[in-house]
Amino acid sequence: MKHLGITILALATVLLASCGKPGTKADFSHTLSSPDGTLIASLGLTPDGQPCYKLDRSGAAVIKPSLLGFALVSDTDRAGGDDPVIKNARKGLRLSGKSNLCTGFSILGVSTDSLDETWQPVWGEESEIRNNYNELLVMLGREDGVKMNVRMRLYDDGLGFRYEFPSDGNSLVTFWLTDELTEFRMAGNHTAWWIPGDYDTQEFNYTQSRLSQVKSLYWQSQKGGGWPWKSFSESGVQTALQMKTDDGLYINIHEAAVLDFPTMNLNIDSTVRPSDKQIEYTLKVHLTPDATGYVGRLTSPCYSPWRTVQVCDKATDVLRSRLILNLNEPCTLEDVSWIHPVKYMGVWWEMISDHSTWGYTNDFPSVRLPGDPSLPPSLQGAITDYTKAKPHGRHGANNANVRRYIDFAAEHGFDALLIEGWNIGWEDWYGKDKDYVFDFLTPYPDFDLPALNKYAHEKGIRLIMHHESSSSVTNYERFMERAYNLMNQYGYDAVKSGYVGHIVPHGEHHYSQPIINHYHRAIVEAAKHHIMVNAHEAVRPTGLCRTWPNMIGNESAMGTEFRGRINPGHTTILPFTRLQGGPMDYTPGIFETDMEKNAPWNHDLMRHTICNQLGLYVTFYSPLQMAADFPEHYEPYMDAFQFIKDVAVDWDTSIYLYAEPGDYIVTARKPKVSTLNQAADGVGTLPDGKKGVISNAARYVYGIDDTNALTHSHINALKPREVWYIGGITDENAREFSVKLDFLKPGVKYEATIYADAKDASGYVSDVKMGWEAARKEGYNPKAYTITKKTVTSKTVLKLKMAPCGGFAVSIRER
Ligand code: NOJ
Ligand code: CA
Repeated sequence: MKHLGITILALATVLLASCGKPGTKADFSHTLSSPDGTLIASLGLTPDGQPCYKLDRSGAAVIKPSLLGFALVSDTDRAGGDDPVIKNARKGLRLSGKSNLCTGFSILGVSTDSLDETWQPVWGEESEIRNNYNELLVMLGREDGVKMNVRMRLYDDGLGFRYEFPSDGNSLVTFWLTDELTEFRMAGNHTAWWIPGDYDTQEFNYTQSRLSQVKSLYWQSQKGGGWPWKSFSESGVQTALQMKTDDGLYINIHEAAVLDFPTMNLNIDSTVRPSDKQIEYTLKVHLTPDATGYVGRLTSPCYSPWRTVQVCDKATDVLRSRLILNLNEPCTLEDVSWIHPVKYMGVWWEMISDHSTWGYTNDFPSVRLPGDPSLPPSLQGAITDYTKAKPHGRHGANNANVRRYIDFAAEHGFDALLIEGWNIGWEDWYGKDKDYVFDFLTPYPDFDLPALNKYAHEKGIRLIMHHESSSSVTNYERFMERAYNLMNQYGYDAVKSGYVGHIVPHGEHHYSQPIINHYHRAIVEAAKHHIMVNAHEAVRPTGLCRTWPNMIGNESAMGTEFRGRINPGHTTILPFTRLQGGPMDYTPGIFETDMEKNAPWNHDLMRHTICNQLGLYVTFYSPLQMAADFPEHYEPYMDAFQFIKDVAVDWDTSIYLYAEPGDYIVTARKPKVSTLNQAADGVGTLPDGKKGVISNAARYVYGIDDTNALTHSHINALKPREVWYIGGITDENAREFSVKLDFLKPGVKYEATIYADAKDASGYVSDVKMGWEAARKEGYNPKAYTITKKTVTSKTVLKLKMAPCGGFAVSIRER
């Protein structure tokens, strides 16, 4: 590791360029170069003292001169502003009557630094990550005593910058933000892959268009998306925003390390340049407001999240970039031995596809949970008594059904089983903005929590807890400690949490500062209990899993639960956007694409082939990976299911072979042997002295095919074989790729098992909802696949074909 901490007054070329408002000249007095010299970032001040920056790559503009700064709550805006007592109490908020945190600055000092280190993630796409940047810190000050610094880190693959508010001698103590003024002035009308800007959800299909077309496509882009949504502008988009220039450069704007700060959206501003009448597109930061309309309440010392601009000249380099992770702080947990990758199944898809329900009874049009302290004593009689309720017979999380899943998951080498709908309250959980909605403690009468955990542990797998908060953050916080204690008592080490619906407290948003703080508190508290967290509908991640690696998953995008609404090609975009901030619990593995088979009244058809689903286990990175379909839907296709069993979920090396957002991705990965069996080891010693089930990926890597022969001591005595997996996915177009296996060891023979779409295979391409019979006439044939085995070496080139909406998967093992 190289760390240089020199403080100098950087003297660089003085550049004058128009900044922000056309015609305003800025003095770019300080520049910073990326380690390989390709990227140059510059920082300076406009004539009225507003900080601004620009970014060039090999001499060409990536971000044209763009303004920086914030707007604050002014004296006149503040409630009680004339009351002398309040005035005194709010001293730190006062800015000499100004609401400006952008102009009037001069540069007080500059320092530079650089770092070249390699760190080892607890889990990830590779076992080592290089973090190599040059840094520039520009210290700004103003006559009214306000201090604000801008720290820039420049990597070979992009820029990160953030605002810092020191406490030393700063007249800015406690301050409230009304806006962030950061801009990204683009050098062209780029192609973008975007979802509409929103304060509450990311569950949308992506739209591919020019920046200029966003406004006209805005309402269409929300079609089929999640609920509740709260848009703020017809030209708003979310990050990570992937763009491509006409010259083929990939530019991605996102943020890293969002803590104690609201989530950033971008608003596209188009302005006609007076000099040549060309339209310029400026992406302006738009922060999510809290219930009072302010966007942030800060106290120095503090800093903003990193604003990031990733720049790559190949799409595969976007997937390889670790810019967001690198900008986050190192792991803060001293003991990470309890954190492990998880391959799981779930009593889940049944409910999503209407086959069964989360709720237990039809008896209660509304539910009042026992223990609700807001009820007067005279209403205690109105409390819902589940022991007296008549079950409706469609409750998924019943003892017999859960045992059936435990048996199947254990037999096929899974680490864990998720069970949703185990706890009382589901009859009344949705769309009512209820506060006291769940207690996360009381099981339904037909769910025997201690017995099912014992049963699962005896079979060598763990149960995954489910905490749907229904977005009642108030209530989840009320119960969090007790809920985590219950998990500890019964040996659950992972929780899937959820935030469906409007946030309670009312008026807050999923992405406002107070709620961002809640998600974070949940992670930190869970870590104290040695609990791994997979939050659905929470804010999209920004690399915080580097610092808190118990954050093993997030949904925060349109995932499999959207069934027939998911566009073909959606999964070829997510790794460029949503996955830049951290892994996604996409919940792949749906073999039965016709939802009428699950519930006759559900006419949804999913738009993929079986091989597309197999390909996702390699193209999508997540240390928490699900096989989401029913056991009985895998049973007829056990030969294809074998790939899901064999594939690892944590990696030593990843190679991104081919990629284009919206079109295709082909990835090869080599498993990390040291974490292969960690989940099983973590189950602990069971009554008969056995440990957890040996995962099938471990069997594959150790070359053990005899199910009965295996014990943990046996596996420890074996030598792992070199193994690789390759996955491919495509959109609605059939494709063929030549994959050179030159990453294999030369001179060594391997056996490859190739799972490919059959010649006549096709996913359901059309987006018109129709019944199964009509779709069949369109040539919809998702279950046709071939499995071939062949000997390969590092000289082999595999020709791999994908059907429309299809994919492929290959497992390769040293002979
Ligand atoms: C939405 C989540 O994404 C889904 O996975 C979950 O089953 C439901 N909420 C219920 O919690
Ligand atoms: Ca969801």
